[in-house]
Amino acid sequence: MVKPEKFIPAAIEEIKKAAGNEKVVVALSGGVDSSVCAALAALAIGDRLVPIYIDTGLMRKGETERIKKIFGDIRLQVVEAGDEFLAALAGITDPEEKRKAIGERFIRVFEREAKKSGATCLLQGTIYPDRIESEGGIKSHHNVGGMPLKMAFTKIIEPIRDLYKDEVREIAGALNLPPEIQHRMPFPGPGLAVRIIGEVTREKVEVIREANWIVEAEIVEQYRPWQCFAALLGLGTGVKGDNRIHGWIVAIRAVNSRDGMTADPVEIPFADLTRIGSRITAEIPRVARVVYDVTPKPPATIEYE
Ligand code: XMP
Repeated sequence: MVKPEKFIPAAIEEIKKAAGNEKVVVALSGGVDSSVCAALAALAIGDRLVPIYIDTGLMRKGETERIKKIFGDIRLQVVEAGDEFLAALAGITDPEEKRKAIGERFIRVFEREAKKSGATCLLQGTIYPDRIESEGGIKSHHNVGGMPLKMAFTKIIEPIRDLYKDEVREIAGALNLPPEIQHRMPFPGPGLAVRIIGEVTREKVEVIREANWIVEAEIVEQYRPWQCFAALLGLGTGVKGDNRIHGWIVAIRAVNSRDGMTADPVEIPFADLTRIGSRITAEIPRVARVVYDVTPKPPATIEYE
């Protein structure tokens, strides 16, 4: 287990050394990883840190407002790029292609903004399990800072690259970050797109954003899972009022895990599940069916794509 009193000064030193006199840009997502990196870098290089938040349009409900509130006083630059991401995703159904399209778009937008700031170094919140899964070729990992390969930075700084998630949370506590950041569930860089099977469209994003809001509201406080969310599986037949309809099928996923590499479904009582299902179908007219995902990882991944 990491020792914050040793790790924090060493990380600050590492960032100082790597940055020299240059400006360092960080893509802040509001998750614990990028927030810890930004906090460490703010201590190391102060005003030479340029934090940028890109609203991909694939974020959770209320997220952009929340981030603006929390990070307002470190001169956070907020970039609205939802339409650009939707356009880049049009017609793509293959999961890897989707991840690549989002990663590439992210880099374009980020590079564009970073250039304006004159930063030459990139700070990334990559953690140990991210590296293992990427190196093992399991998936293209998009860790909000994007894929550095083609980026025009002279240096990539990854101060938490050897930490597990629970260690990052411990460091967040030691750095006095707000508890809501310290205990935040992980949220994937590609956002709601990896919770939508098939093509990403505006309607699907709207439906899953609403369903995810309900799932988090009903499950987070009560069960404190490692992660929970809603996913959009596709269309199925249903009956609403007197009509047979073609409606969306929403899956509820709630898992416990240490590091995301393996996971077990949370045992949620049936009465709670049916209540959540009823809420989703009542509040989102185009949802016809709700299912609970009982699969551990492996064989299933936590996300759907
Ligand atoms: P999977 O779905 O591979 O996810 O079992 C394991 C953990 O990683 C998160 N995840 C991501 N996080 N960029 C991220 O920053 C990504 O591209 C990405 N894909 C999955 C996922 O939410 C889970 O916590």
